[in-house]
Amino acid sequence: MTLELGVNIDHIATLRQARGTPYPDLLQAMKLVEEAGAHAITIHLREDRRHIQDADVYEIRKVCQRRLNLELAATDEMVNIACDVAPSDACVVPEKREELTTEGGLDVIGLFDRVHKSTQQLNNAGIRVSLFIEPDIEQIKRVPDIGASVIELHTGTYANAMGDDKKREFERIVNASEYADALGIQVNAGHGLDYDNTPIIAAIPQIRELNIGHSMVARAVFVGIKQATVEMLALLQKARA
Ligand code: PXP
Repeated sequence: MTLELGVNIDHIATLRQARGTPYPDLLQAMKLVEEAGAHAITIHLREDRRHIQDADVYEIRKVCQRRLNLELAATDEMVNIACDVAPSDACVVPEKREELTTEGGLDVIGLFDRVHKSTQQLNNAGIRVSLFIEPDIEQIKRVPDIGASVIELHTGTYANAMGDDKKREFERIVNASEYADALGIQVNAGHGLDYDNTPIIAAIPQIRELNIGHSMVARAVFVGIKQATVEMLALLQKARA
């Protein structure tokens, strides 16, 4: 099974928003990522609009040649925008305004009704829904009842952990991947992945797609976004060889 790469281009927009300039051009970045062979483009329209703007979502949707994966909070505003834009995929994430980035997975047990409603609305619009959750069996057990066919396992804790904690976090991701796959749920993963910590995650056979952003945009400062994508794709391919 090939492992697909979704490139999150939010932080190209972060650089643009830092000065309110028209550059760097998101569409140009997307085109280069596509030319490099990435399988999906991922963007997160945050409620505070700190990087991706509403107009970006519509423009990207118009010209995106790959799958477009829109990350969004389970709010009426965001779900209505997603249904209007109609990306191929939507990834429901938790969102707190003060956070630096998405911290932790969505609590699909505690927020069952809200996530269920959002998922149904997105599914009815023909959008494939993924839930960004912790590698936690109890959370995964509720996914079929919510109606999502895909999960994205949050790898941020693994990425930040050291020593034995890192080993433990890795085992949680392996166990969660096996458990979800056995239930027939597609398993994706992402957050905090970089050129060093990705290979071991990429080697987990049940994982079908990785979504990676910050480390690739950082690498692009030195080699360009196309080369940064080529390098990450090569690393994924090697891990599955
Ligand atoms: N997956 C999800 C659901 C995310 O929210 C993010 C960050 O926007 C990513 C993947 C990418 O994380 P990173 O930028 O750390 O690679």
